Amino acid sequence: MKRCDRTTAWAALQGHFEAHGRSLDLREAFARDGGRFAALSFEAPEIFADLSKNLVDAATMQWLLELARQCGLEAQRDAMLRGEIVNPTEGRAVLHTALRAPRGAGPFSNEVHAVLDAMLAYAERVRGDAGLTDIVNIGIGGSDLGPQMAVPALQAYGRADKRLHFVSNVDGHDIAPLLQRLDAKHTLFIVASKTFTTQETMANAAVAREWFLAQGGTDIARHFAATTTNVAAAAAFGITTTFGFWDWVGGRYSLWSAIGLPIAVAVGAENFRDLLAGAHAMDRHFAETPLAHNLPVLLGLIDVWYRNFHGFTSRSVAPYHQGLKRLPAYLQQLEMESNGKCVDLDGNALPYGTSPVVWGEPGTNGQHAYFQMLHQGTDVVPVEFIAVKTPAHGLADQHRKLLANCLAQSQALMLGKSAADAAAEQAPTAAAGIDPAVLAQHRSFPGNRPSTTLLLQALTPRSLGALIALYEHRVFTSGALWGINSFDQWGVELGKALCNQLLPRLASGETQGLDASTAGLLARLTT
Ligand code: F6P
Repeated sequence: MKRCDRTTAWAALQGHFEAHGRSLDLREAFARDGGRFAALSFEAPEIFADLSKNLVDAATMQWLLELARQCGLEAQRDAMLRGEIVNPTEGRAVLHTALRAPRGAGPFSNEVHAVLDAMLAYAERVRGDAGLTDIVNIGIGGSDLGPQMAVPALQAYGRADKRLHFVSNVDGHDIAPLLQRLDAKHTLFIVASKTFTTQETMANAAVAREWFLAQGGTDIARHFAATTTNVAAAAAFGITTTFGFWDWVGGRYSLWSAIGLPIAVAVGAENFRDLLAGAHAMDRHFAETPLAHNLPVLLGLIDVWYRNFHGFTSRSVAPYHQGLKRLPAYLQQLEMESNGKCVDLDGNALPYGTSPVVWGEPGTNGQHAYFQMLHQGTDVVPVEFIAVKTPAHGLADQHRKLLANCLAQSQALMLGKSAADAAAEQAPTAAAGIDPAVLAQHRSFPGNRPSTTLLLQALTPRSLGALIALYEHRVFTSGALWGINSFDQWGVELGKALCNQLLPRLASGETQGLDASTAGLLARLTT
């Protein structure tokens, strides 16, 4: 395994970038090459990907693939899939892929399927229990974002008599208004925490238990369940209905484990198994497809190209499906907690950038907010469009409008509009009195702004599973090339430790020994 910047391919890519990459113009590239769309569009399970509107040419892709080979990407991938310790700072294997392997296949199959069977049987019992109408998942980060993203995405597979709620924030404004609306008799709390020690989750779980008892609730076994690797701590908390998982499942990779219980309650066992099957199909694609046609690999390579050669620092995700409204938040944790690292596996400071900022909103909403900056801002932000061919509703006209918007945005980003073309158009009446040449500058678009479009036939459990697994392996790819540990998250620890030190001061008002800023703020909050 070799770090990307120590390969000959890296040097070649630098030369290629200076000679051709920096100046590549998408409009010219399409005009020159009638086969560009065909050459740069790819099929993976459940997903068609158009990469042709990216700032790459055949030579870029060849050198990026060579970079992957020289970095030993395939060997690193295989080591992860075999269950080797690829998270050395925590001494752990990384085997979320084992959670979606069919029975009898993959590492730890017996354990995985025993918990899966038990968890799904329980989910079916909850679905069949007419007395339980409101299911509250209490968890944060990876113990929240996956189910919170997947449940609305699969709303078409849900049932009206089961309402799913998600409480994550330690801010009491999260849980308090929800509890006001609930009836303890009809509520099931799922306390989701890999460690069962996370401050926010423990605080919210304690509030929920207190509220439940205050409402006259007695049957904790029926109204509380826990999904955790720390079954002993859950038992100490008083929860006896527990579904476990293992330290080789990272929090942000855990929706496939017992952490997926809210999804299973929402959509049922069979659909949950389809979600796993979709992810497994993508795992096989990642494991078996030659790099040149391997979609997660190609996406990860283009991410490296943009981050380290073009110097782009962010990527925007625009799902044109309202059900995917929480996908950007989910991807933020997946990508930024995984690859937001500044040292390599040997602890050396990195001389190049790693995780971009990942952000976004569903289309078309984002168009009426920040797309202005994407089209005319001073920074180039690659955009990822996700479109779904067949909607789950019957509003055909609205769906055509949605898709037209999606296609139009990637087209506009690429084509832009010259000042001459803007000047040739009839100026809008609101601009009366302004110098037409000045107005034309304001109304022109640079264009040549890159985007990727991912197309799904429909948003189903299977296609959602494939889509999420696609992102997981793409994050693995860029992390592997960067030579970082994509599977630890030490960067969250310092704030937690300082919070624990400050907590008693919030009660006492003691500011001695603090920096002047923190002391000043604390004084204002406590006096
Ligand atoms: O603070 C970050 C983190 O450790 C995430 O990695 C994790 O998903 C989240 O907290 C929640 O942790 P737990 O599931 O142990 O409560």
